[in-house]
Amino acid sequence: MSRKYIGVFDSGLGGLTTVSEIIRQLPDENIVFIGDTANMPYGSKTKEQIISFTLNNIHTLLEHDLKAVVIACNTSDSNARNVAEKEFDLPIFGVISPAARKAAEITVCKKIGVIATELTVKSERYEKLIKEHDSDIEVYQMACPKLVPLVESGLFLSDKNAMIRTLKDYIDPLYEKGIDTLILGCTHYDILMDLTSEIYPDLKLVSSSRPVVFDLKEYLEKNDLREKEKEAVREYYTTSDPEEFAKIAQLLIKDIEIKQRVFR
Ligand code: DGL
Repeated sequence: MSRKYIGVFDSGLGGLTTVSEIIRQLPDENIVFIGDTANMPYGSKTKEQIISFTLNNIHTLLEHDLKAVVIACNTSDSNARNVAEKEFDLPIFGVISPAARKAAEITVCKKIGVIATELTVKSERYEKLIKEHDSDIEVYQMACPKLVPLVESGLFLSDKNAMIRTLKDYIDPLYEKGIDTLILGCTHYDILMDLTSEIYPDLKLVSSSRPVVFDLKEYLEKNDLREKEKEAVREYYTTSDPEEFAKIAQLLIKDIEIKQRVFR
């Protein structure tokens, strides 16, 4: 039987936080990943651009034999998932719905904050899905356009105090509304999880990178699609400079090897 892969993509490093969770929960699965860093940040582009990047990513992933796709990008999930589902006859998993579900389950005071990219906030997808779980929950959103560039450039590692100031600028207004739960609604923000929890020890933080893997695992098990061979193959591609991308990527995934892949 030919090798089947789980295809994963994001605009960049954020998607690797989802990949690391797939490796943790599903260590035998073959993975092909694209970080579309040439078009990063997605969050400040137009919806039409996000649709085009999303379709390009999936077309390129399909050069491998895929059994599922994970959109490890909130911006793409909120703006292009429905188009992708029409275009491709493949199970497509997005990060937003599992994170919204988890936050709705754990909030006690029924006030949830969401930090995300501009386009994700504009889509109001989190608010809609949280309210489908419980219409009494209040949702407060904040677009954080500075965070993705700070993560991708590695600046978040070199100036902790500046990073804390930036996070507080974005999160304090939500905190002041009395939220008890905060969704990190961009997969890049998962990399800032520890720092965010240092600043706000009393907030319950919900990753948008990881809960999707629970749904993926359940789907593979129900459909008897779990990989039976050991020796998983993992391939990683970036649409810009692999050496640049590897600098931070190797902090997230051990022994990662990144190749360049330019869209046709
Ligand atoms: N990591 C992505 C997300 O979850 C995209 C970030 C960006 O490129 O703006 O939204």
